[in-house]
Amino acid sequence: MLKIHVPLGGGYDVIIGHGLTEQAGRLLKPVLPGSLAAIVCDDTTRELFLEPLKASLNGAGIRTVEYAFPHGEQHKTLGTLGRLLSFFARNGLTRADAAIALGGGVTGDMTGFAAAVYQRGIPFVQVPTTLLSAVDASVGGKTAVDLPEGKNLAGAFHQPLAVLCDADTFATLPPETLRDGMAEAVKMGVLFDRSYFASLSNGIPEDLVPVVARSVELKRDVVLRDEFDRGERALLNLGHTFAHAIEKCMDFQMTHGHAVAVGTVMAARASEALGVAEEPVLDPVRAAMEANGLPVKADLPADRMLEAMLRDKKRAGAQITLVLPERIGKARLHPVGVGDLRGILEAAT
Ligand SMILES: NC(=O)c1ccc[n+]([C@@H]2O[C@H](COP(=O)([O-])OP(=O)(O)OC[C@H]3O[C@@H](n4cnc5c(N)ncnc54)[C@H](O)[C@@H]3O)[C@@H](O)[C@H]2O)c1
Ligand SMILES: [Zn+2]
Repeated sequence: MLKIHVPLGGGYDVIIGHGLTEQAGRLLKPVLPGSLAAIVCDDTTRELFLEPLKASLNGAGIRTVEYAFPHGEQHKTLGTLGRLLSFFARNGLTRADAAIALGGGVTGDMTGFAAAVYQRGIPFVQVPTTLLSAVDASVGGKTAVDLPEGKNLAGAFHQPLAVLCDADTFATLPPETLRDGMAEAVKMGVLFDRSYFASLSNGIPEDLVPVVARSVELKRDVVLRDEFDRGERALLNLGHTFAHAIEKCMDFQMTHGHAVAVGTVMAARASEALGVAEEPVLDPVRAAMEANGLPVKADLPADRMLEAMLRDKKRAGAQITLVLPERIGKARLHPVGVGDLRGILEAAT
């Protein structure tokens, strides 16, 4: 079992290991403020993990109430949020109690946002059950729901009380969902850590505990330097400007992590084309994504990607900030004029 301390909010530990669901009561009891916790899950994680989590919490004297919503990004809405807030109210949750998000990034984002606004903020705990939520979504304090106008448009910064990551939960993930998480982990390696990148370049490691742990440390360090996303935290968008365009062009038929894999390869290619790369970055990035069973191209015309990118919320006036790898383990923010984007896209695809 590994513990990574994150000195954000009130300060919290990310606990990563095997068999942790059954130990949740013992591990969470010391950090929970009161004796009532609302477990929030989707229908899938309810079936898989609710009973053991509940049994462990109840065994430690923590009373639980449970709320499950239908799985999927299409339920990360104000509607679900409203029902969840009413559930908290009906069950008499107060600021002395806590919410526990049991699931992937959708559950974590929505529970975190509900916890941020219910009674102006109650404590919450993340129990990530997808690799993507473990390596990315559950750390850093960003919470949100989608609006009809776009993803993650309503949200808040709200740090959890603890993150409990039981790597055994990944055993039931569909292979595609597991690979989504690997794409984000490889991205972290490209951004910040050459040897971590190398450790992910031969395919999905047997033990995912160290994979989660290093991504969490790397994400923590960048969030510590820029909690509210005014500068350096934007590095985490490596591959994402392209990925969001790919997701839109493909009507979200390609999953987010898969689009990030393609987008990161495109960023590496663009970096070489623009002379930003100080060493070959395309070949190693492409090889690492392929080794993890991820796609490396999307076969979309540059024109359609351009149109989608110009509608992206990250567009600040006449510029778009790309994240480009300078070498494996180091990247930089690279603002480009909208007028140059077509040429870059043609070079990157
Ligand atoms: N807050 C952040 O910083 C941040 C960062 C990255 C992504 N996100 C958000 O995270 C979301 C994506 O996360 P996700 O990919 O985990 O999506 P998700 O929560 O929808 O999970 C994917 C699917 O896997 C199922 N599932 C969850 N755990 C499982 C398990 N152990 N076994 C089998 N099935 C399981 C879920 O029911 C769901 O159908 C997006 O909404 C994205 O915006 C947030
Ligand atoms: Zn992502």
